[in-house]
Amino acid sequence: MDSPKSVSFRFSCFICLILSLLPHSTKSICTRPPLIFNFGDSNSDTGGLVAGLGYSVTSPYGRTFFGRSTGRLSDGRLLIDFLCQSLNTSFLPAYMESLGSTFSNGANFAVVGSSTLPKFVPFALNVQVMQFLHFKSRSYELLASGSEEMINDDGFQRALYMIDIGQNDLSDAFAKKYSYAQVIKGIPLILAEIKNAIKSIHDNGGRKFWVHNTGPLGCLPQKLWLVQPSSRDVDPQGCISTYNSAANLFNEGLHQLCTKLRLELKDATIIYVDIYTIKYDLIINASKYGLKSPLMACCGFGGPPYNYNINVTCGHDGAQACDQGSRFISWDGIHFTEAANSIMASKLLSQQYSTPSLPFDFFCD
Ligand SMILES: *[C@@H]1O[C@H](CO)[C@@H](O)[C@H](O)[C@H]1NC(C)=O
Ligand SMILES: *[C@@H]1O[C@H](CO)[C@@H](O)[C@H](O)[C@H]1NC(C)=O
Ligand SMILES: *[C@@H]1O[C@H](CO)[C@@H](O)[C@H](O)[C@H]1NC(C)=O
Repeated sequence: MDSPKSVSFRFSCFICLILSLLPHSTKSICTRPPLIFNFGDSNSDTGGLVAGLGYSVTSPYGRTFFGRSTGRLSDGRLLIDFLCQSLNTSFLPAYMESLGSTFSNGANFAVVGSSTLPKFVPFALNVQVMQFLHFKSRSYELLASGSEEMINDDGFQRALYMIDIGQNDLSDAFAKKYSYAQVIKGIPLILAEIKNAIKSIHDNGGRKFWVHNTGPLGCLPQKLWLVQPSSRDVDPQGCISTYNSAANLFNEGLHQLCTKLRLELKDATIIYVDIYTIKYDLIINASKYGLKSPLMACCGFGGPPYNYNINVTCGHDGAQACDQGSRFISWDGIHFTEAANSIMASKLLSQQYSTPSLPFDFFCD
């Protein structure tokens, strides 16, 4: 005879079996507020440079969505903002923004201009990770002294850790006039830093990682303006082939790194996200998305073909912005517009570009 206890045990196991058979994609609600920690450069900086160095980012930055400059290098929301909105959580506060930030849904350590190397300078990836470790130990101190709002062990473990870095490492190497071969030679060093960051966060309880690869560097209006037509090889789309090849090689290495780390850190989920393909498609097939002038900055100086001049950049005297609503891809020659970021977000949320193919909210519970 079964005791009532074992019957109820069997019944609840039946329920958990049914639940485990339901497709993962039916889960789309976070029952607990999502927690995100982000590391990176201007592609995901939501105010770090402005808060950390007092640097001013002025109008027309921010004109489309916020109606004021927030320190984001775009006219509006960044990809990370759209990702937060998809989870119904507030925009991620910059870690160094001390006024008005509660950090109840995590913190953003990304800062404009950051790269992985050199280390130990503001705000290299390893410095951002050190800031995270400080954030974590302060949270524990405050918890121990009775504060209830702080993130605890469980929170750090269930949080999502996002990384989007590498673009400036490649860009800086080309800017130093390194040969293509020298730039390529540096890629394993960049990847080693990303590996260190993931392992260090994992050592500190992180289990869920979302890693963006880097976009087509050779299609940025700034690069097209900087590199003289005589000294560059251009692909049929008008982008610089060597720059894009370097980005592709970095991405292949990052993909392999994620595969290796999945074997090494068996209790971790590491998702590699192909931002390159999303961005390249937007640039090549701009008109399909209702976007225009893919190789020209909306805000800058000089007019076609690139509307970029290093002495008169967006936000400075003499620079001019395209009409509101004109749906450019490039905002200032380096960073994408809100219109492009919004399309990128919906493509990213489709799961087609993630390996393994998990939905962005996979870490919610
Ligand atoms: C966000 O809110 C919408 C509308 O209330 C809901 O359908 C969706 O499931 C929510 N998403 C998450 C991740 O909670
Ligand atoms: C452009 O769009 C076409 C048709 O949808 C697609 O086959 C192609 O892969 C796209 N190009 C890029 C570079 O993504
Ligand atoms: C930018 O400014 C520098 C220094 O004033 C000058 O040498 C250079 O010619 C300028 N470049 C352009 C494209 O105006």
